[in-house]
Amino acid sequence: MKLSVIGCGYLGAVHAAAMASIGHEVVGIDVDESKIATLSKGLAPFFEPGLQEILEEGIASGRLSFTTDMSAASGAKVHFIGVGTPQQKDGYAADLTYVNAAVDGLLPYLAPGDIVAGKSTVPVGTAANLAERVTPTGATLVWNPEFLREGFAVQDTVDPDRLVAGVPAGEEGETAADILREVYHPSVAKNTPFIVTDYATAELVKVSANAFLATKISFINAMAEIAEVTGADVTQLADAIGHDARIGRRFLGAGIGFGGGCLPKDIRAFSARAEELGRGESVNFLREVDAINLRRRDRAVELVVDALGGTVFEKKVAVLGAAFKPHSDDIRDSPALDVAVRLKGLGADVVVTDPAAIENAKRVHPQLTYNEDLDETLRDADAVIVVTEWDEWRRELAPEHAASLVANTIVVDGRNCLDAAAWRDAGWTYFGMGRP
Ligand code: UDX
Repeated sequence: MKLSVIGCGYLGAVHAAAMASIGHEVVGIDVDESKIATLSKGLAPFFEPGLQEILEEGIASGRLSFTTDMSAASGAKVHFIGVGTPQQKDGYAADLTYVNAAVDGLLPYLAPGDIVAGKSTVPVGTAANLAERVTPTGATLVWNPEFLREGFAVQDTVDPDRLVAGVPAGEEGETAADILREVYHPSVAKNTPFIVTDYATAELVKVSANAFLATKISFINAMAEIAEVTGADVTQLADAIGHDARIGRRFLGAGIGFGGGCLPKDIRAFSARAEELGRGESVNFLREVDAINLRRRDRAVELVVDALGGTVFEKKVAVLGAAFKPHSDDIRDSPALDVAVRLKGLGADVVVTDPAAIENAKRVHPQLTYNEDLDETLRDADAVIVVTEWDEWRRELAPEHAASLVANTIVVDGRNCLDAAAWRDAGWTYFGMGRP
């Protein structure tokens, strides 16, 4: 099928390449000329496992192309909207400028029978508004939220765990759902759940999924706070409650909390939208989820300060991590970098290392010192803090070797990802998050 994808950021670039990889003819469209130039060469503009390969394959096959020219969308049967919905500069709500611009720009190129499929995460009610603009062209608007995780974006797009389509009522909606089934034919063939619903439900599926995940993380981080004053170990607690199939162990990783381009902004936008709808109290708990999450960053900083006897001034702190999570070079709302910046603010001589995110981090926080080399980062450090759980130090860094490099064997494990016993055996003073 001929498809267009408007917006070639994280979501759009991956979606365009993934759709070409399952046999469609895809044009990706974005206003950013340098991004389009990079993608047209078959290069991934960000670190995402597997993306480079499917970009190269798609372009070589002739099925995948990128342009800044919106008119290239004409002739496509389905037009995906994958632009960003960042947090507004002066509030919690989502900024819909890019979604509105994408849909308005697309209108002149729509033909009767086309499908406009929104994938961006939007406040509930957005699709109904956009449909008023799309319907007069004879095209149908559907809402088809995306659940991809960074680091697994290609896999999550090609083989999602569920598909959701918010469609208008009646025959028009049924036809639109059938066309989406054709688009996602490999998933449909393997009986991936395909939920056809109304616009509002489809929009809410996405924000409520993210709200639930954020709540789960903050729940365990709240338990970490209680563990800290009682001598309990939150990691064992998480293992034990996680054995209950109704709870499950995933997303019960206590540490410095969630960040990234989705969870923080999505829970804030959800709160703002609920307020507008007169139902702010229904999701008041999300404010608490946000507050718990941010408190854990303070706690990590406090652990380093206390371990160094009350001040970090002119002490060398080796910060292991900058990305908001491993397998990503994304530093948007990264708890890791936030901790580094706070320590620097307290006068520490902070050196940050990360396997993928140094370039991005430098651009936003040029005041920090960076070193690509782990050993050099550790050399003569007065304290070490792990803030992103990369395998490079979780599994591969030997505590004995690390001990031979540093000035002081103090380690704060901001992600509870190190083997505490092994580090202690090697002579380290180990501090976890919510652990004795
Ligand atoms: C998230 C959702 O998972 C995805 O479905 C949605 O489409 C976009 O938002 P992503 O931002 O890629 O995806 O990251 P995710 O793997 O969910 O992690 C989010 C944050 O939570 C990271 O900072 C991670 O370190 C943190 N986290 C995750 C924890 O602190 N503890 C956990 O147990 C799990």
